Amino acid sequence: MHNPILELNNVSVFYPGQRLFFKKPQLTQVLHSINLQLQHGEILAIVGESGSGKSTLGMSIVGLVNDISGKYIYTNTMYDPSNMSDLRKEIQIIFQDALSSLNPRMRIGSAIEEVIKLHHSEADIEQRLQELLDKVDLPSHTKGKYPHELSGGQRQRACIARALAVKPKILICDEVVSALDVSVQAKILNLLLKLVSEDGLSILFTTHDLQVVESFAHRVIVMKSGRIVETGSVQDVFRKPDNNYTQKLLESIPEKV
Ligand SMILES: Nc1ncnc2c1ncn2[C@@H]1O[C@H](COP(=O)(O)OP(=O)(O)OP(=O)(O)O)[C@@H](O)[C@H]1O
Ligand SMILES: [Mg+2]
Repeated sequence: MHNPILELNNVSVFYPGQRLFFKKPQLTQVLHSINLQLQHGEILAIVGESGSGKSTLGMSIVGLVNDISGKYIYTNTMYDPSNMSDLRKEIQIIFQDALSSLNPRMRIGSAIEEVIKLHHSEADIEQRLQELLDKVDLPSHTKGKYPHELSGGQRQRACIARALAVKPKILICDEVVSALDVSVQAKILNLLLKLVSEDGLSILFTTHDLQVVESFAHRVIVMKSGRIVETGSVQDVFRKPDNNYTQKLLESIPEKV
């Protein structure tokens, strides 16, 4: 397992604090020198309490944060953080709230087509849209629906289809199943597993749910206060956590499977 598709070296992120009396807001550091590697075809889970920096980490990778330092290496090429948005065809992000990720006035088909158009000629659009709907197991008639006419699980599938429209190599999934019922969660996770095994996608997956990590991820990173406190295979970290904080997180699982 030494073939990273993406590597983060000493990535630090700062957010502006409160602005007081027209003074320049002070920056607060929320990620501290993060180093991590995502391997080809790997599902890497990021866990940690609320506010530990999981979403910030995901957003930093797609160039969605401003005050950032460090280096990214994507398939052996070094990128400055400010250039990461150049990789939006390679790295896509999906969020928990599928409803607000989709334009409420746009039918699902048009929302996906909008992205397909960036890559395909007009003649191929219909066919590519159908392929994407098939890939995420949405029936063909979904393309005529508006986001509010779909269930939470169907909307999340639509978001996944739209993300896949650019044929990304990495999918960042920020709490994508947290708002869904357990049975719908399992279906979405199975879909993501299929994308990894069939298409070789690599997934960085942030979640609160350690049971999901145990059943779904290969490796896990534990974050606390913007720092990585533990990394390892899911088996190692769950059976023998090195860190007290990890131990406490694991003890907080209501009922371990
Ligand atoms: N846009 C922002 N401006 C200022 N501070 C922010 C912003 N977004 C996040 N923060 C702060 O950065 C820290 C990390 O937040 P982040 O959302 O990355 O945590 P998280 O681990 O994803 O939490 P959760 O599990 O609740 O989703 C928190 O202290 C948060 O308050
Ligand atoms: Mg978050």
